[in-house]
Amino acid sequence: MEADSWVLLAATIFATSFLFLLKGFISRSRLKLPPGPKPWPILGNLNLIGSLPHQSIHDLSQTYGPMMQLQFGSFPVVIGSSVEMAREFLKIHDLNFASRPYTSATKYTNYDQNDVICSLWSTVASWAELFTMKRLDSFQYIRTEELHLFLSGIYASCGNPATLVSTQYIQNDFGKEDKLSKFMTKDMLDVLLQLADDPNPDLKFSRLRIKGLTLDLLAGGTDTSTTAIEWAMSELLKHPEIVEQATEEVDRVIGRNRWVEEKDIPNLPYIKSIMLETMRMHPVVPLLAPHLARENCKVHGYDILRGTRVFVNTWSIGRDPTLWDAPNEFRPARFKGREIDVVKGQNFELLPFGSGRRMCPGYNLGLKLIESGLANLLHGFTWELPNQMKPQDLNMEEVFGLSVPKKVPLVVVAEPRLPHNLYSAV
Ligand code: HEM
Repeated sequence: MEADSWVLLAATIFATSFLFLLKGFISRSRLKLPPGPKPWPILGNLNLIGSLPHQSIHDLSQTYGPMMQLQFGSFPVVIGSSVEMAREFLKIHDLNFASRPYTSATKYTNYDQNDVICSLWSTVASWAELFTMKRLDSFQYIRTEELHLFLSGIYASCGNPATLVSTQYIQNDFGKEDKLSKFMTKDMLDVLLQLADDPNPDLKFSRLRIKGLTLDLLAGGTDTSTTAIEWAMSELLKHPEIVEQATEEVDRVIGRNRWVEEKDIPNLPYIKSIMLETMRMHPVVPLLAPHLARENCKVHGYDILRGTRVFVNTWSIGRDPTLWDAPNEFRPARFKGREIDVVKGQNFELLPFGSGRRMCPGYNLGLKLIESGLANLLHGFTWELPNQMKPQDLNMEEVFGLSVPKKVPLVVVAEPRLPHNLYSAV
């Protein structure tokens, strides 16, 4: 090719690229994007995000408002930090934001999005089958046995300082054979393996999906409840007057001659309020999981572009002074007479499990574990901080991860408060 032709070709490519960029710039400048700080090249706004992203984002929302746009590297991110914005993303435009971003992390650690947490919306409906109340009820005896093992472990350590929640899972052969059939469901993994063999094509799960869901059960089903219980107990150790009211309720409703059972929980409204107040101040998943805009859309007058990642900051909502009196104080009594149902996900001021199509499918299980765990800890033991530590010296810092637990694990000294024969029975 002649030199002139090379120059002409290069000029054409340059002009085309320039026009293309200009067109992109003009059409972007016509958009009304949510307000936010100016991003740096390459880094975007990552320099503004500290080790506790929900808190950094909360601080930024005080400047830029309840819907703001940030740039994380090359990705646009929109954050909703108020009840109105949570409703916009999780209810009004739920369908458009019901997907999850595809990243290398989800590809390699979540079996190429063959789990629930990271899967695209189209694959999620079939998972609901696994979390029905009927199934949960069939596993109740496992939860009861596990809880009793936990309580007897505490009894064994009474008088000595010990961390409240440990990561030890006790192996036991819980399976019981049903006299009708040869095989009876032992646990969730057995259900999954049964579904894998199910000839019904709607329910047939591949090996990869079973691995993905097992990962979700471990990630979503273990840390979350223990994190919530640890936060609740930490707050209670700082508020002996709340413990007094809670134990009065449990003594009155249950008496001192048996443990609290799951079916007792509806009769323990104060315990429920403690759980709600804990989830308000210490949401286990404060930013929910990332949602993804499937199409361009207008939300509250702003343009949200396809591919934008969307977070809802429930940590901010839980501290909104227009919704909560003295939001930084732990006051379970604020829920007295206030109808809030976290299970329906329609009270947008308290969304510990999210809302809408991507709401946590494990909410019933999570609530059962937290409420019966907490009620029995208060019923079965008195609690003190070790080494004459004062409640105000208790470290309440958070650490960010899949869930947000305490940075420093809670160490406590327990003493039994029920007749001793009850502990030997567990
Ligand atoms: C205290 C207990 C729990 C809390 C606070 C909690 C919270 C959450 C939250 C906030 C989400 C994200 C919702 C969203 O993206 O909008 C979620 C999703 C999820 N949770 Fe939970 N969870 C808990 C217990 C459980 C349990 C016990 C399981 C399973 C046994 C579970 C399994 C899942 C799964 C599979 C998802 C993904 C749902 C989807 O993407 O469609 N969680 N959870």
